[in-house]
Amino acid sequence: MEKMEKMEILILGNELLRQKAEQITRINGEIAHVADTLLNTLHLGKGVGLAGPQVGVMKRIFVVHLDKDVPRVFINPSLLETSEETVKYEEGCLSIPGVWVEVIRPKTVRIQAWNEQGRPFTQDADGILARVILHEFDHLEGTLFIDRLSPAKRKRILAKIEKQRRV
Ligand code: NI
Repeated sequence: MEKMEKMEILILGNELLRQKAEQITRINGEIAHVADTLLNTLHLGKGVGLAGPQVGVMKRIFVVHLDKDVPRVFINPSLLETSEETVKYEEGCLSIPGVWVEVIRPKTVRIQAWNEQGRPFTQDADGILARVILHEFDHLEGTLFIDRLSPAKRKRILAKIEKQRRV
C-alpha cells in the first residue's frame, strides 16, 4: 500500500491563501491522489474541511469529512443556490489556528461538483455540512472566514491573532 502523505497546512499571512484556485482540466489519478492527501492531512489536523490552496495546491478541489459522515471530495464546484436565510455559527480554520468566531452564512446550499472518480453530482446541504462547504468554497476564491466578519470584529480578531503570534 502506498504510504499516505501529509502536506503542510499554510497559515494566515501566506499569499497563496489569497489567490484564486484554477479549474481542474482532467480528473485523473494525480487528482485522486491530491484528494487522498487532502483527506489524510485533514484527519491528522482534526479538521472537518480542507481546500487545495491551504496546502499550496492552487486547484479547485476541497474535501469535507464530518463526524459520522462519509468523506466527500468536491472538484470544480459551483454554488447553484444559497438560501437567503442566514445562520450564525462558530467557525474555525486549520489555516487560522486557535481562532473560533461566529460567522454569518446562508443556511442552505446547493452545490454541483465532480468527485475524485470524475463523476458529477449535485448536493443539497444544510446545517454544519452547508457551513463547511461554503467555508471551503471560499478558500478556492482566496477568501477566508475573517473576511466575512464586520470590520470592527475583524480588526479585533486580527489583533488577537497578532498578540498570540508574539507570545
Ligand atoms: Ni479554512
